[in-house]
Amino acid sequence: MATRTSRTAAEFVPDTSDLTVLADAAHGCKGCDLHLDATQVVFGGGSERADMMLVGEQPGDQEDKAGEPFVGPAGRLLDKALVEAGVDRDGLYVTNAVKHFKFTLPERGTRRIHKTPSRTEVVACRPWLLAELAVVQPDVLVLMGATAAQSLLGSTFRLTQHRGEVLDLPDAGELGIDPAVVVSPHPSSVLRGPPEDREQAFQALVSDLRFAAGQRRR
Ligand code: URA
Ligand code: SF4
Repeated sequence: MATRTSRTAAEFVPDTSDLTVLADAAHGCKGCDLHLDATQVVFGGGSERADMMLVGEQPGDQEDKAGEPFVGPAGRLLDKALVEAGVDRDGLYVTNAVKHFKFTLPERGTRRIHKTPSRTEVVACRPWLLAELAVVQPDVLVLMGATAAQSLLGSTFRLTQHRGEVLDLPDAGELGIDPAVVVSPHPSSVLRGPPEDREQAFQALVSDLRFAAGQRRR
């Protein structure tokens, strides 16, 4: 039986400013138990020189199979919201607070069901997110959903109370960066909500992305 070796990714994160080296090293991460059942690690992707970085929760079923973030239903919704907000996805860096897919298998059927990562798993995975931030050095950091927001802003952070604000990153000084931090709903929350609320939830995401893009310095 595989045994847990650690409660943090820290010891697996190389000291490098090369994103490819970081992403390669993440394949060997045993910072929490989520690597045991997932297909593969899903590291962030996009431009190393991106001025805007988007952070979701964790890869979903399709991301787990593809090895890339936001390529499934939530990714398609995010793409649509970015188009509507006038933001070019090619100029972004997109990643997740947690890099392995957490799921349960129902008693019947084989469809894997998304499970929200625990606080322990979010904290364990944070060193990867901080390393990505230190390399990409975005002007703007968009935390989409409570998991991403609580990873970097603390476990008591309440997303709904801070939409439309520009926040500071507590770890900014240590990382040598100073991004404008903006929070938004998670694209999956738009898909999971009741159909009659979807348009309004989608527009909330679009307006937060547009607001975030307006904070870029270049
Ligand atoms: N949801 C996320 O938070 N991230 C993904 O990559 C896909 C779905
Ligand atoms: Fe490492 Fe994060 Fe995967 Fe846990 S979820 S094994 S900390 S990469």
